[in-house]
Amino acid sequence: MVAFKRKPVMGSGGHTNPLVWLAAIICTIFAIAVIVTGIMMFIGYIMIHPRVPTISVTNAHLDLLRNDYAGLLQTQLSIVVTAYNGNAKAHAKFSKMTFSLSFQGQGIAVLVADSFDVPKNSSNVLRYVVQSSSIPLTPDQMEKVGESWKRNEIGFDFKGAGRTRWKVGPFGSVKYSCHLNCYLKFRPLNGSYIPSKCSSKSK
Ligand SMILES: *[C@@H]1O[C@H](CO)[C@@H](O)[C@H](O)[C@H]1NC(C)=O
Ligand SMILES: *[C@@H]1O[C@H](CO)[C@@H](O)[C@H](O)[C@H]1NC(C)=O
Repeated sequence: MVAFKRKPVMGSGGHTNPLVWLAAIICTIFAIAVIVTGIMMFIGYIMIHPRVPTISVTNAHLDLLRNDYAGLLQTQLSIVVTAYNGNAKAHAKFSKMTFSLSFQGQGIAVLVADSFDVPKNSSNVLRYVVQSSSIPLTPDQMEKVGESWKRNEIGFDFKGAGRTRWKVGPFGSVKYSCHLNCYLKFRPLNGSYIPSKCSSKSK
């Protein structure tokens, strides 16, 4: 009686119930799927990330730099910012773009851009002319300007931030924020820009 009773419990002669096998196989497949998806997402991230929308200063010119003995600085700069969308499949929208220009911690101007779209695998150019008259400088800052003339090299801090997103399908979007933190250098004697890498880092 005992042996007879035990048999159905053990299943087919001590082997594991096929349902348990099925469950184990489904679990394994599921686990592999999760791992593969993770790897694919990682690879996708590696491949896509360098192409997230960026902003960079692609050209600039120091149109005017004049300082007097009273410590007033007058300047004009032309700055070309390029918004780049390296994605070949999605439009990028840039919004809430704000840039600030300063000299030795002294704010010169704040620039803003209206929201704009950049088509797939394309770029948009923003041209700014920043004119500033009579910025009062501290004796320290005046000294820095004097040195800049002597070395024929002057630098301005140019910072920017904004939001970017890719439009994916009618409703979806992938959002990023971008930050620009550059030191733009010029030759005061002829106003030419000393090119250096100035591109946003995206998150
Ligand atoms: C993106 O544009 C560059 C030049 O602007 C071109 O060489 C490249 O083939 C384009 N890529 C795609 C995927 O359209
Ligand atoms: C401006 O001056 C620098 C150095 O004095 C020189 O290298 C550069 O070619 C000049 N640029 C122009 C446009 O004359």
